[in-house]
Amino acid sequence: MATKFFEKNRKERLDEIVKFAKLTSEERQILEENGGIGFDQADKMVENAIGTFSFPLGIATNFFVNDKEYLVPMVIEEPSVIAAASKAAKIAKINGGFRMKNEESYSIGQIQLVNIRDKDAMQNVLSHSKEILDLANTKSSTLSKMGKGAKELSCKQIITPSGAMLIVELLIDVGDAMGANVTNTMCEGISSLVEKITGGKALLRILSNYSTRRIVSGSAIFDKDEVGGEQIVDNIILAFEFADNDQYRAVTHNKGILNGIIAAANSTGQDTRAIEAAAHAYAAKSGKYRSLTQWSKDKNGNLVGKIELPLSVGIVGGIINVHPTAKVCAKILKVASASELACVIAAVGLAQNFSAIRALASEGIQKGHMKLHARNIAAAAGATPEQIDAIASKMVQEGKISINRARELVGS
Ligand code: MEV
Repeated sequence: MATKFFEKNRKERLDEIVKFAKLTSEERQILEENGGIGFDQADKMVENAIGTFSFPLGIATNFFVNDKEYLVPMVIEEPSVIAAASKAAKIAKINGGFRMKNEESYSIGQIQLVNIRDKDAMQNVLSHSKEILDLANTKSSTLSKMGKGAKELSCKQIITPSGAMLIVELLIDVGDAMGANVTNTMCEGISSLVEKITGGKALLRILSNYSTRRIVSGSAIFDKDEVGGEQIVDNIILAFEFADNDQYRAVTHNKGILNGIIAAANSTGQDTRAIEAAAHAYAAKSGKYRSLTQWSKDKNGNLVGKIELPLSVGIVGGIINVHPTAKVCAKILKVASASELACVIAAVGLAQNFSAIRALASEGIQKGHMKLHARNIAAAAGATPEQIDAIASKMVQEGKISINRARELVGS
């Protein structure tokens, strides 16, 4: 499926996607018409709307995650990212693709209690857990009906310059939703009861985006010959160790991982700010900011990549139910649950990291990047679709990639 996808023209790519995901003619039309949201929808979504803003949507190919084939829609403005993910996934496929897991979808809600005078406040909250959870669950009949909803309650004390505070945390199984709204509703809904139990004052009542109960993890094996041989495998491990032991490198290394994660998450309209905030906090969980991936060799000398991070995504509620292209992208992904979506997105992150550090640890990233950059320059200079590749190759060959040179070539 989807061999040489990049060599096809737009119509052929769409034909393949339509067949793969069994898209209806209306869904195909949404893709053909760059079917984002109209102004009326935008005007309802944000304040002071004046228009909409579009981004490229591409498809990463070759992804096998837990033995299932995926074509992954990615929304990103940066050249090379989609090609890099597809190439990495192709190598991972040789050894069975990505093995990923995501075992729970618990959202965390926090209630900040101040002015606590009762030394037994924490114990009192815990002994009223059932009553508090029952009240929280009255706030979402949908989750309750599915046997999901608020499941656990915990308490911690924090000491601040303004004194001690009690933080009550509500753990909510949000199933296939991202769950921010229901979490906030439940936190607000139980705060009066918690105030009564503790004698304190409830101040903030809000979801924590540090979604440590939505961890996704997994691995893939990259064949040493396809990677480029033993030396490159060793260099990739050295590149990982650089990132894992130096924050300046780790931030860039994790940015590369997020290139894949955010692009894949964007296509289904996820809250990517929440994903990024949680990913960076998780990278610093040991007290030092480190790599979100780990790289080593197996006994055959093949490269083994692992990834682990919190990933809060949903397939019900939010933009995915509103944005026409996000809906079509969800259909292309064929994911049946938020957990499956998290697994695919994290696999893309691992693939992206592989390609970035493979390039960096061998020929460098500029060679491939400049080729794509040259295509953009050629297009900007007015090259026709038939001229673009030839002009881009010529500029790369000459080592002269500029709008002026592209204009000369367009005119010649
Ligand atoms: C560029 O968007 C991402 C990289 O800088 C990531 C990395 O350095 O690992 C290539």
